[in-house]
Amino acid sequence: MTSDRTPSGGIWDRRYQALEAQNLDRKLRVSLGPTAETFLTRDGERLHFCSNDYLGLANHPQIAEAMCRAMEQYGAGTGASRLISGHTELHAQFEAAWAQWMGYPAALSFPSGYQANVGAISALTAPGDIIFSDERVHASIIDGCRLSRAQVVIFRHNDLQHLAELLATHTVRDGVRLIVTDAVFSMDGDETPLGALCALAEQHGAQLYLDEAHSVGIMGPEGRGLAHREALAKSVAVHVSTFGKAWGLCGAMVATSSLAVAIIRSRARSFLFTTAAPAFLSAGLLRGWDIVRQGDALRQRLQSNIAVFCERAANLGLPLIPSTSPIQPLVIGSAQAALRVSQALWERGIFVQAVRPPTVPEGTSRLRITITAAHETAHIDALLSALSACVPPSGDAPNRPREDDTP
Ligand SMILES: Cc1ncc(COP(=O)(O)O)c(C=O)c1O
Repeated sequence: MTSDRTPSGGIWDRRYQALEAQNLDRKLRVSLGPTAETFLTRDGERLHFCSNDYLGLANHPQIAEAMCRAMEQYGAGTGASRLISGHTELHAQFEAAWAQWMGYPAALSFPSGYQANVGAISALTAPGDIIFSDERVHASIIDGCRLSRAQVVIFRHNDLQHLAELLATHTVRDGVRLIVTDAVFSMDGDETPLGALCALAEQHGAQLYLDEAHSVGIMGPEGRGLAHREALAKSVAVHVSTFGKAWGLCGAMVATSSLAVAIIRSRARSFLFTTAAPAFLSAGLLRGWDIVRQGDALRQRLQSNIAVFCERAANLGLPLIPSTSPIQPLVIGSAQAALRVSQALWERGIFVQAVRPPTVPEGTSRLRITITAAHETAHIDALLSALSACVPPSGDAPNRPREDDTP
């Protein structure tokens, strides 16, 4: 057996022990089956309430079949980054059709949403520009802001009065002012006030960058997302969709003007310096897109599952953060307490992950419960019964801003 001693003179050992001591070390649960409403392990099944597979498509036979067929034609791998060895007609076809559907002149796909945000934000901004960021945006947006070396100004979560003050006092002479936000916030499940945000951006001559990771596929006509639900797509300069959530696969698309896409294609390090996603992914995404577009019944089922969960949780007095999205967070407080509740649920047959800092602010570790269209009412009742047995009565905690993961 190889030695497991770290070669850092004990530094990594001490760093890991410090993480452990704060209950901030991470471990992986191992599944023996597909992503679905149950999570299959060596010691049996758990009901799965922490995947972002909101429409239950991760294991859809038609999507899997489309991917297998594409693999027969295009093979398994792509060989290099798209700028080095080109891409397939499936990549190109998907991008062109997506841009049209979203109402933008052009679109560029990425292997993941993380890469899309890091790449697009850092490519479209530079030193001398200003980025105005909601304090709760996803880590990929935070990292894109950091990489851009633009000035980053943070506004309080969904506080447009604060943003207006910052826009009035932070001006540029010859540069971009970019407002960045999630459409639905990944850890709280609440929505950005898009109408007022667009009006503010326009009033101050700023550009809006909207990440629809948790809204595309589940909101708006044909699942086109929040901007289309509010008929505001024209006010969103850069629009990001990801496919690890409602599509149940992975990948992302940035839709914007042709020149902005040309800049991202030429400058985004997470596009330039990474191997192209396989063509079979585009094939799966294209097939999934048909299902999403025609997915009103799935969206209704999802909304009805969310409503059942919220109503019954309220009757039980469970202190959920108010949210009408599939993300239903239950704040526990300390990282240790959240881990304890998550483990107690696991022992009762329920898989809900404890989310801890730096993903959420200190003191607000939580169960990030996700409800999907694949759940049955009986599953939701089993979850609620386990929650009422495992969650301590004073689950609430103060909502302080995170300190170590702001842009
Ligand atoms: C708002 C938001 N944007 C981007 C991402 C990253 O997407 P991906 O998982 O495709 O890398 C996530 C992932 O959870 C997210 O919540």
